[in-house]
Amino acid sequence: MTESSNRLSILGENALKLGVFGVNVSHGCAVTDAEGTIEVDWSESLALARAADRAGIEAMVPVARWKGFGGATNFNHRCFETYTWAAGLAQATENIVLFATSHVPTINPVLAAKQCATIDHISNGRFGLNIVAGWNASEIAMFGNEQLPHDDRYAVAEEWIELIKALWTREGTFDFTGKYFQCPGAYAEPKPVQKPHPLVMSAGVSPAGRSFAAKHADLNFLLAPNYEIVSDICRDVRSQADALEREVSIWGMAAIVVGDTEEDAKKYFDYYVDEKGDWEAARNLIGGAATDGGSFHEDHLDEQLRQIVAGYAAIPLVGTAEQVAEKLVEFHSTGVDGLTLSWVDYTQGLKRFSSEVIPLLEQAGLRRPVVDTSA
Ligand SMILES: Cc1cc2nc3c(=O)[nH]c(=O)nc-3n(C[C@H](O)[C@H](O)[C@H](O)COP(=O)(O)O)c2cc1C
Repeated sequence: MTESSNRLSILGENALKLGVFGVNVSHGCAVTDAEGTIEVDWSESLALARAADRAGIEAMVPVARWKGFGGATNFNHRCFETYTWAAGLAQATENIVLFATSHVPTINPVLAAKQCATIDHISNGRFGLNIVAGWNASEIAMFGNEQLPHDDRYAVAEEWIELIKALWTREGTFDFTGKYFQCPGAYAEPKPVQKPHPLVMSAGVSPAGRSFAAKHADLNFLLAPNYEIVSDICRDVRSQADALEREVSIWGMAAIVVGDTEEDAKKYFDYYVDEKGDWEAARNLIGGAATDGGSFHEDHLDEQLRQIVAGYAAIPLVGTAEQVAEKLVEFHSTGVDGLTLSWVDYTQGLKRFSSEVIPLLEQAGLRRPVVDTSA
């Protein structure tokens, strides 16, 4: 695969790109005890990645997780490690881009660069690195590391990705001497398949997160409680990237419920969120992040707590297939280039979305029909 063919699928062609988020963690993105959530079983990951690939969906994006959030579900307590998860799926798929989501403080950059290059070869240029600076202190503690203050995490992340990019692109041996990382005699071969390097995504919306994305990422993955804030973030990140003569694609998050009727869809949403939602786990999840300048907005916390239960803080899109397609068109008009999607039951949800909603997005001119190349 050439650089341009890979970049066409995820950075070009379709006006609204799509990804599947959270297949590698128990309960997926829905903090609920409703039936049918992700179990974390390899055959499940494999089937979902292959189904998404067949539907022409551009990306599989995992969650970086090491333990659960307590509550009745112990939400996300079962979790596949994301580099090895991406490597396995790379071998089993054709076109879709596989991301690893990596907490900066959990992996040395020399090892991360090497793993990314290896998966880029396994996938023939379909790998992406999604960087999370770190956030849940009790997970970072499992590695014997203390969580740094919010903006310091991004200072470490800057050096981390600079060294990784150098290892991906610089020929021969070089010395890297940073404040946080020293790498005398740095060397990495083979180089990744993608040139100049694999896709880099960064997930974060704080001021430090936005400027990190503008400087270092090809894609910025955001969460926000409403379309107005999504638009503001898109404008800000793009103007910061413009000033650096860089281009950054922006992706948001949507939680999808499609019903036969609007009433059915809303009823199901109320069932899994209000009746079966694990609000204790959701409160644990939002707990540390709300107070340290992270992704959650003090004045929208109630709304964001509900969005966490609905889909890891995604904006819920609930209705008939036609209504969900209209909402996706509206979401796209905020300025996002792509959206990750989640469902309570991914198998049924993805099937229905592919057969009923994607054709409507094609009609709306946001996506091109999928060409079956398997024959
Ligand atoms: C869209 C999005 C996805 C994220 N995914 C993860 C994740 O998979 N694992 C994790 O520990 N943190 C994740 N985070 C949280 C970040 O690690 C945390 O918010 C960090 O502080 C960076 O975001 P900020 O710049 O908004 O503060 C995610 C954040 C966003 C915005």
